[in-house]
Amino acid sequence: MDAAEKLIQNHELSKKEYIELLKGWEKPKVSRKLTEEAVRLRKQYYGDKVYTRGLIEFTNYCKNDCYYCGIRRGNRHAQRYRLSGEEILDCCENGYALGFRTFVLQGGEDPYYTDERMADIVRSIRRDYPDCAITLSIGEKSYESYKLFKEAGADRYLLRHETASEELYRRLHPEEMLLSHRKQCLYDLKALGYQVGAGFMVGSPGQKMEHLAEDLIFLKELQPQMVGIGPFIPHHETRFANEAAGSVGLTLFLLSVIRILLPKVLLPATTALGTMDPLGREKGLAAGANVVMPNLSPVKNRKQYDLYDNKICTGEEAAECRDCLEQRVLSTGYRLVAERGDALL
Ligand code: SAM
Ligand code: FES
Repeated sequence: MDAAEKLIQNHELSKKEYIELLKGWEKPKVSRKLTEEAVRLRKQYYGDKVYTRGLIEFTNYCKNDCYYCGIRRGNRHAQRYRLSGEEILDCCENGYALGFRTFVLQGGEDPYYTDERMADIVRSIRRDYPDCAITLSIGEKSYESYKLFKEAGADRYLLRHETASEELYRRLHPEEMLLSHRKQCLYDLKALGYQVGAGFMVGSPGQKMEHLAEDLIFLKELQPQMVGIGPFIPHHETRFANEAAGSVGLTLFLLSVIRILLPKVLLPATTALGTMDPLGREKGLAAGANVVMPNLSPVKNRKQYDLYDNKICTGEEAAECRDCLEQRVLSTGYRLVAERGDALL
């Protein structure tokens, strides 16, 4: 049995087998087989539904200095902004009217939003929108902080592990950032009952197939409810400005692999995928993804949440973004639904 067959049968592989599988990603026969199985599984569990999450990028201040990221603290040219609690609630109001039932509050690690401030924001969204899911994506915090946010009403948390390889993690982050801590945060979030999202960039500088194999093994072990992956895209104000971007084809291949690995997982077709290829999100959905995340942030701040160069969707109003994605989803034969879209596992 080859590695692709084995993955389909067992829903996991050894590191050696993952490497063999990944090295063959450009073989049309292999990718076709995996895509077909990924689509079969996503239809078995989710039918033709695509869930939608309203993304609110509420601060681009960040105390970290991840070498790949355009909003890292070392980028003196970034124009920084923060949204007030009231502005965040306005985004939710607008989003609710457009049919969103999940709000994702994402930002850099910004100390201005103390735990109490953050919990207050979560409480007010919970109070005004009791039927909506609240997702946070605000980086590494203590168990106690995560507990406070959970008690305030947060349901889900997105924290990409970025890479499960110590070696690659060191290449991408300054010394004060530890992979072990990031992983601990993910386990803490799970222990607290959050629906948890991990994930990684595809094609980050120095990434090899063996690193991706480690990512897949880590995902299987963690069993997250959500997995966010997208191609690495260089940002001109980072040390990786001249590095090559990650491959769309390999990202699509990995989406199918992850769908087979974790059949019920919630898997977004990401903005980074749409940035690298005008039809990237449609291709992501056709490879096994079942979530899209239109932007609800105020248009005045969109360009400032500048993680990588040429990011799409920075000029559109929330309604335009939603309609655009609805058309894109329909073109793939799926349909966008206005539901919370909780994890099945
Ligand atoms: N601060 C939070 C955190 O660390 O989880 C959330 C914000 S962070 C900017 C969101 C994600 O953007 C990261 O997890 C990373 O994978 C992605 N990202 C940052 N820079 C990128 C780049 N140059 N290309 C592609 N994705 C990038
Ligand atoms: Fe934002 Fe298409 S999703 S404009």
